Amino acid sequence: MTRRKRILSGNRPTGRLHLGNYLGALQNWVKLQEEYDCFYMVADWHALTSDYADTRDMPGNIESMVLDWLSAGLDPERSVLFIQSKVKQHAELALILGMFVPLPWLERCPTYKEALAQIQEKDLRTYGFLGYPVLQAADILIYKADTVPVGEDQLPHLELTREIARRVNFIYGEIFVEPQHILSRVPKLLGTDGRKMSKSYGNCIYLSDSEKTVNEKVSQMVTDPARVRKTDAGHPEVCSVFDYHKVFNPDRTDEIADGCRNATIGCVACKKILAASLNTVLEPMRARRADLMNRPDYLKQVIEDGNRRAFEEAERTMAVVRPALNLTP
Ligand code: TRP
Ligand code: SF4
Repeated sequence: MTRRKRILSGNRPTGRLHLGNYLGALQNWVKLQEEYDCFYMVADWHALTSDYADTRDMPGNIESMVLDWLSAGLDPERSVLFIQSKVKQHAELALILGMFVPLPWLERCPTYKEALAQIQEKDLRTYGFLGYPVLQAADILIYKADTVPVGEDQLPHLELTREIARRVNFIYGEIFVEPQHILSRVPKLLGTDGRKMSKSYGNCIYLSDSEKTVNEKVSQMVTDPARVRKTDAGHPEVCSVFDYHKVFNPDRTDEIADGCRNATIGCVACKKILAASLNTVLEPMRARRADLMNRPDYLKQVIEDGNRRAFEEAERTMAVVRPALNLTP
């Protein structure tokens, strides 16, 4: 039997996951389990690189993310779900890789430059933040991942990971696998107010929202501002509810657009259809979540088990890396 290809991906624990996170990554992660051996990591050290000043929410954020993962269908029987900081070999490898990485590779990284330019409220001129992609390369290379599912913004980090792998393999012999990426090609989901979906705007629909909350959020969504009365003709192309229908009701968009333009469907009814579709997606997650809440020890067990399996894999790679660099046992 040929070895199944291996996936690694990760996410910084920043709190509850929303529908945008689900469509942009998690849904894809769930599907990939069918074909690949998957390692999914809570990147808590990566979260620290920018959020070092206040870490109080970290434990809660980690737990809620793993809960969202399991609710959404990541399956610990098939995939290794683990916490980065519990596998110290990531830090060891990142430190070693740092010896090879020329500073300009990091300084010219677009994610780095953008964060420095855009984020004023945190001081990101730190060694840790500059080294973010080196740690990410270590995360990937230490599992010899063949493929890394990521969003487009992460492509420079993947490119850097490949360059680092090539450099190490050239100097020390074939140790690492050069990873490919898979882009999740999902339409971007905006927030309920038509701006980018973001916690700080308070415009998110969370995977953990109840049916009632979803109904309320959808009923408050921004629609075509020119459509004041039900008898006014609407313009679906400027309506954020319609953007959601395109994602969640692709088969009904013509019918809904016509109904909106002819004023035969009102916004209230249109939103009801949308809320029902969202609840259809979220209902199985709610059921799994309710089940998990009844078994608090299970979550702990899943994480411990994942940490152990990741540790073993990471240690296997480091057992090759250390002697290759003549670091004596
Ligand atoms: N940088 C990634 C993000 O912000 C998170 C991450 C950390 C990651 N390590 C990784 C993603 C390794 C893929 C592989 O989304
Ligand atoms: Fe938007 Fe639907 Fe109202 Fe048209 S009917 S404006 S698509 S909510």
